[in-house]
Amino acid sequence: MKDSKSNSKKKIIIFASGNGTNAINIYHYFRDHKEIEVSHVISNNKKSRVLRRAHDLKIKCIHFDKEDLYETNALLEVIQDIQPNLIVLAGFLLKIPSSFLAEFPNRIVNIHPSLLPKYGGEGMYGERVFKKILKHREKESGITIHYVNQNYDEGEIIAQYKVDLEDNENLSSLEDKIHALEYEYYPKVIERVIG
Ligand code: GAR
Repeated sequence: MKDSKSNSKKKIIIFASGNGTNAINIYHYFRDHKEIEVSHVISNNKKSRVLRRAHDLKIKCIHFDKEDLYETNALLEVIQDIQPNLIVLAGFLLKIPSSFLAEFPNRIVNIHPSLLPKYGGEGMYGERVFKKILKHREKESGITIHYVNQNYDEGEIIAQYKVDLEDNENLSSLEDKIHALEYEYYPKVIERVIG
């Protein structure tokens, strides 16, 4: 029997590579939402915590290899079948190929743990970003939510949220501050962008 209620919801597909705390936070935010649902969590990393967490929550999961993303249309075809309204990158570390950008224009968003254009670009993710921010003794930092284009962290900015940094800020306190911003704002921005 068809579940017409859930089928009429707008679908989010989350791409994640690592821990997946944002992915799971987004899932919980939309779990009882009337119009939007997280339909799938997708990862290139078979052993990732995100796939384990999503699996435990009975979210539909897909694992793919780099080859499926870059050398064939295998993953693109799977995603086309799901017909997502929005693709959400949450700690996803691979580059999105142009075939995806062409198929989903302005429908792929990413979150980055700094105030872009500062501390962005290839190889800048997670702890590496935080270490640079601390090294440069920034007085404030924050998060950027942006559309994805062909270059790492360069797509049109949708929203930025700031936080003050203390003189004695360390890796874990900075990480906590940034995650708090991510958990509060990423789901709300997704809700707004999906329309
Ligand atoms: C998040 O802080 C996100 O901003 C960052 O990876 C973390 C993933 O955490 N993304 C990037 O650095 C992208 N360049 P999570 O797996 O616990 O959600």
